[in-house]
Amino acid sequence: MRDIPFFKMPNLDKEAEEVAKVIRSGWVTFGPKTAEFEEKFAKYIGAPYCVMVDNCTAALYLTCEHVFSRIPKEERNKVTIGIPSLTCAATAIAPIHAGLTVKFIDIEEGDSFCMDWRKTDASWQIPVHYAGKECDTGNRLVAVEDSAHRIIRNGYKNHRQAYSFYATKNLTTSEGGMIACSNEEEAIWYKKARLYGNGNASFSRDKMYSSGGEKYWEFESEFVGWKCNPTDILATIGLVQLEKLDELNAERERVAKRYNEGLGLTTDRSPWHIYPILVPERDKFMYYMKDNGVKCSVHFPLLHRMKAFSHLSANVPLTEKIYDKIVTLPLYPYMENEDIDYVIDLVNKWKKRHLD
Ligand SMILES: Cc1ncc(COP(=O)(O)O)c(C=O)c1O
Repeated sequence: MRDIPFFKMPNLDKEAEEVAKVIRSGWVTFGPKTAEFEEKFAKYIGAPYCVMVDNCTAALYLTCEHVFSRIPKEERNKVTIGIPSLTCAATAIAPIHAGLTVKFIDIEEGDSFCMDWRKTDASWQIPVHYAGKECDTGNRLVAVEDSAHRIIRNGYKNHRQAYSFYATKNLTTSEGGMIACSNEEEAIWYKKARLYGNGNASFSRDKMYSSGGEKYWEFESEFVGWKCNPTDILATIGLVQLEKLDELNAERERVAKRYNEGLGLTTDRSPWHIYPILVPERDKFMYYMKDNGVKCSVHFPLLHRMKAFSHLSANVPLTEKIYDKIVTLPLYPYMENEDIDYVIDLVNKWKKRHLD
């Protein structure tokens, strides 16, 4: 029997070589490699500024804090913000910790599975580009775009965007995140916010020491910040991955297209982070696939049904309707055609069995 994983990491030898150099250099926290990655990533997505943090959850949280920073914490619960229920817990955790009132919004009709901004009276939203497909944000205010699934050349759309570099993402740094924005002052705030509210990191102090040295030892927290800076080790993995990203995205696209052809589907979710489909009797389907050596997943267990978020407003009938059917098939760069066809065959047999 075949053994098809949900995700298989492409070769990381080049990343390992570069990381070894950084470790041997003796500078392992964040510094020049982080700055280089921020600059190159900004160029790739077409954003004026990028600030790296240690994960996307932190990126979402810092942007929520910044957008609503003029509203005192005790009054922030008057601000309502719409998010989908079909997303990672991070999309909810960030605005909740920033003191905002989260409302779960239903998905749109059709096969995008993205949130429908028309279905909310919330004044703000965090759209999620589910599986890679761009979510239509209409004319509603966007606090930050959750772009964890959509890392694409020239994908920056003049909002704040939060990216994830988690292990299975289109570009990985093992763990990592990025904030993209268009305002320099705001970018400087994120750089301080990620390090105790301090704009003079040890890397900058080192530079001051070498160039004149006046009061090179001084630093202060200008506001009560957080601690979510990345490291040069993560940024170095990112630099190598960025060089490969066009090819990695093209590979995901190749797999998705073959699935589309084999399953008779037409959805385009380019740059394809995951491949979700609807099947009858999803839970039984998961065991059927397991019995045939294929590991699938579900994106995502619905947030509004989770203990942590069950007290929040949720009017999401369409999301609930598809949830019992939604499944994510294996998709990763360099997935072999034979494996893709094997999965297609199993899915088609299951669907046929349930039509007969
Ligand atoms: C849609 C979405 N948003 C946010 C995140 C959080 O990313 P991170 O793990 O980098 O914090 C994820 C992670 O998988 C995600 O899928």
